[in-house]
Amino acid sequence: MKILVVYFTQSGQLKGILDNIVQDMKQEAEIDFAEIRLVQPFPFPWSSATFFDAMPESVLQVPAAIQPMPAIMDKDYDLVLFGYQPWFLHPSIPANSFLQSEWAVALRDKPVITVIGCRNMWLNAQEKVKAQLQRLGANHIGNIVLEDKHGNMTSTLTIIRWLFKGQKEASKRLPDAGVSDRDIRDTQRYGKPILRHIKEGQTEALQQDLLHLGAIHLRPNLIVLEKRGVSQFPKWAKKARDKGGPGAAERKPVIKLFSRILITAIFVLSPITALVAKIQTALKKKQLLKAVEYFKSTQYQPGRLG
Ligand SMILES: Cc1cc2nc3c(=O)[nH]c(=O)nc-3n(C[C@H](O)[C@H](O)[C@H](O)COP(=O)(O)O)c2cc1C
Repeated sequence: MKILVVYFTQSGQLKGILDNIVQDMKQEAEIDFAEIRLVQPFPFPWSSATFFDAMPESVLQVPAAIQPMPAIMDKDYDLVLFGYQPWFLHPSIPANSFLQSEWAVALRDKPVITVIGCRNMWLNAQEKVKAQLQRLGANHIGNIVLEDKHGNMTSTLTIIRWLFKGQKEASKRLPDAGVSDRDIRDTQRYGKPILRHIKEGQTEALQQDLLHLGAIHLRPNLIVLEKRGVSQFPKWAKKARDKGGPGAAERKPVIKLFSRILITAIFVLSPITALVAKIQTALKKKQLLKAVEYFKSTQYQPGRLG
């Protein structure tokens, strides 16, 4: 059996997750890792200016040039694991750039399992990836989501420390950032069931099995919160792109205003937003529970978040 693992990661977190998932597959499968590399990589840790300047191209899914990946075209893979992360509620620029590149043809007619490593907001990014996989003619059979299980405010503060200072480890008052080491290690449990489904050719039942193993935890209020962001980000992205491309001086004022509004929304308005989301969640419980089922599945119905 041949398995291809295509991924992007800045900190190495997603590579750690994927290494654990394939741990128990190694005896029975040949596993090739292919890292997506931008021709002009983003810095890690980030500066505030480069971080917010990545918003328009993330949101509008404008691809950047990636390093050629000819090796992934050579073999007829039985399974592809696609590891990516959301940036500004959309697939990260490197992940999206791969999906729109000539190398993504390697996914055609292949069973694909998406693996997400994020803070906690991945729904819209996954909808965009589902659309791309459909366009590519891939067979999307599974999705595994790893997130930071701390509360929204704690994970926001720790991810800021991580992304801007490079410190994932706990500090005096705050815990480790990102996905916990234990959750990363525990992804090893997915390897054998995945292999079994592929061998038996019963890929339709895979996602249900992954869900039984705890592959996705999704709280309904996150759907409400994410919907709000999804409705706002494209307006700012278009405004900025109208002024110029990445790094253009002309778009800096728009980016600055966006960053200020986002920071205010996160730190000043968030208690109100959380309360409103809680009320909306209670009022629309039935509808949201149905939505939870949908977002946990690999089905794709355009417009579910827009
Ligand atoms: C520019 C940027 C935007 C991000 N936006 C989101 C987001 O919308 N939702 C989310 O859950 N995490 C977000 N994150 C966190 C990433 O999804 C990811 O968990 C983190 O960057 C570590 O990924 P790595 O594997 O590249 O190291 C963002 C990170 C970056 C760098």
